[in-house]
Amino acid sequence: MTKHFDVLVVGSGIAGLWFALKMADQKKRVAIITKKTRAESNTNYAQGGIACVTSGMDDFESHLRDTMEAGDGLCNEAVVREIVRDGPPRIAELIDLGLQFSTTETGDYDLGQEGGHSRRRILHVKDMTGKAIETALLNAINRSDRIEVFEHAFAIDLITTDKIARRADRPPPSPNRIAGLYVLDVLTNAVMTFAAPVVMLATGGIGQVYRFTTNPDIATGDGVAMAYRAGVPIDNMEFIQFHPTTLYTLNNERFLISEAVRGEGAVLRNFAGETFMAAHHPRADLAPRDVVARAIDTEMKQSGTPHVWLDIRHHPEDYLRSRFPTIFETCERVLGLNLARDLIPVVPAAHYSCGGVSTNLSAETRLPGLYACGEVACTGLHGANRLASNSLLEALVLAHRGAASAGEYLDYRPDAGADDLPEWVDLGGNDPDEQVVISHNWDELRLAMWDYVGIVRTTKRLERARTRVRNLAREVQEYYWNFSVKPKLLELRNLIQVADLIIECALQRKESRGLHETMDYPDKLPVAENSRVTAPAAQEKPGWGNGSAR
Ligand code: FAD
Ligand code: SIN
Repeated sequence: MTKHFDVLVVGSGIAGLWFALKMADQKKRVAIITKKTRAESNTNYAQGGIACVTSGMDDFESHLRDTMEAGDGLCNEAVVREIVRDGPPRIAELIDLGLQFSTTETGDYDLGQEGGHSRRRILHVKDMTGKAIETALLNAINRSDRIEVFEHAFAIDLITTDKIARRADRPPPSPNRIAGLYVLDVLTNAVMTFAAPVVMLATGGIGQVYRFTTNPDIATGDGVAMAYRAGVPIDNMEFIQFHPTTLYTLNNERFLISEAVRGEGAVLRNFAGETFMAAHHPRADLAPRDVVARAIDTEMKQSGTPHVWLDIRHHPEDYLRSRFPTIFETCERVLGLNLARDLIPVVPAAHYSCGGVSTNLSAETRLPGLYACGEVACTGLHGANRLASNSLLEALVLAHRGAASAGEYLDYRPDAGADDLPEWVDLGGNDPDEQVVISHNWDELRLAMWDYVGIVRTTKRLERARTRVRNLAREVQEYYWNFSVKPKLLELRNLIQVADLIIECALQRKESRGLHETMDYPDKLPVAENSRVTAPAAQEKPGWGNGSAR
């Protein structure tokens, strides 16, 4: 049976929760669909904080300049200007919800410093900013009787009016618009149909497409893949941000050592004990992230060492324990390190997707009724390399603006939402080889992306990766189309789609800019342009979602 709402929100990180609260304020009935428990999100792990101009020593022009410089010529200046200016009122609203940012002894905000920022402007809650935000937002969600949260609910694909028409053998309507979602109830394996005139994709990042990442398991690019399959343009996917400093261990886990640690004076050292960042950028260890990650990569390749060192030993233990409690405790627990005495082994790992579903400043995609915000979206703020701590800021501002637009859309389109949605067709059955194929292909994909589509690229490596990814796509499609669906299969299908988009965008870019460094085109082109991929007649492409019972 179809569940009807005014608004469907996919994802319960900062973007989804903030948007849901704003829609509930407009008296709309909202469903939040989230694939694990509600707090599980990239947001919950954010450490450094939120970049926002709040101090008399800072100004919007300087935040704009820093963002544009980090973005390496590809930021949309008008977008940066609006987002930077919209920050302070959104921060004030967060504080009204009960969020308490860290303060100094004099009661002022204890503003952090991170790479690429010319001023101290990062509001933080020690090194657990994300958890504090997630908790404050979830508490507010719990107080609302207009919002229903569906946990362990996995959004499989968007339902558009075009898709409904093709299922009924009718000519496609014009314009096409969003009508709902298919959602897998992970606990019962049943697929539910949700109908609403507005869908917000707030599904976060794609880090799991790489073998080593700071992102939790949920970051499988589901929103990007769903939007692509529905024919929505996807921009700038080649710009994958590798965070320079994650804790080096012998397993696959990569715990983040916040850039705020370098903001408090930590320096990178090679195995000879020498600092090396001054040779790469005038801001040395506080250079923009792309520069620092590349410098570490070069250092490791030249010296043949598995990591470099981070040194924050100039601070006393009491200070480090209090300013960075999570990092201090994790380094102690995992590697037995004491940050006041020991060097920290660090390596870069995949961290953030600067590209995504193309939206305007109202979080609108090209498909009427479909919105996207947070890490899944590409607004033009980040350009070729995101400035540290601008992600949480962007999510707050765009969710607010998206809610204003979605409210108007609902008032203007009272007929939208009255569609008769076809139920999902469950094909039933399982293939005995499915589990082993999924886990093998999962590892193969992530390794291929790490080896061939990493910090430094070549056309040959990208083409090699594309061949691998397309082979995997064929295998996984067979399972998707012929058997019952399961979360791991759906995630793998999405990861493969996202990998293909990253490679496509990377092959389009015949230059090195920001996070996309290729040995075949070492220079920048005179004019910076976005890369874009739109599904070629996506709806007709067999195996990629629309155009059939699925
Ligand atoms: P998320 O917070 O990732 O939420 C996505 C949600 O979507 C999750 O609830 C997930 O379960 C759900 N979901 C995904 N797919 C589906 C599906 N198919 N069906 C149902 N639900 C789905 N940025 C900063 O600005 N400052 C920082 O200090 C900072 N530190 C960071 C530290 C770490 C370790 C990491 C990983 C990132 C950090 N970032 C930071 C980046 C920032 O945290 C994220 O970009 C931001 O939180 C993304 O928010 P979001 O709401 O878009 O997505
Ligand atoms: C960090 O704390 O280093 C992460 C900040 C970010 O990703 O913006």
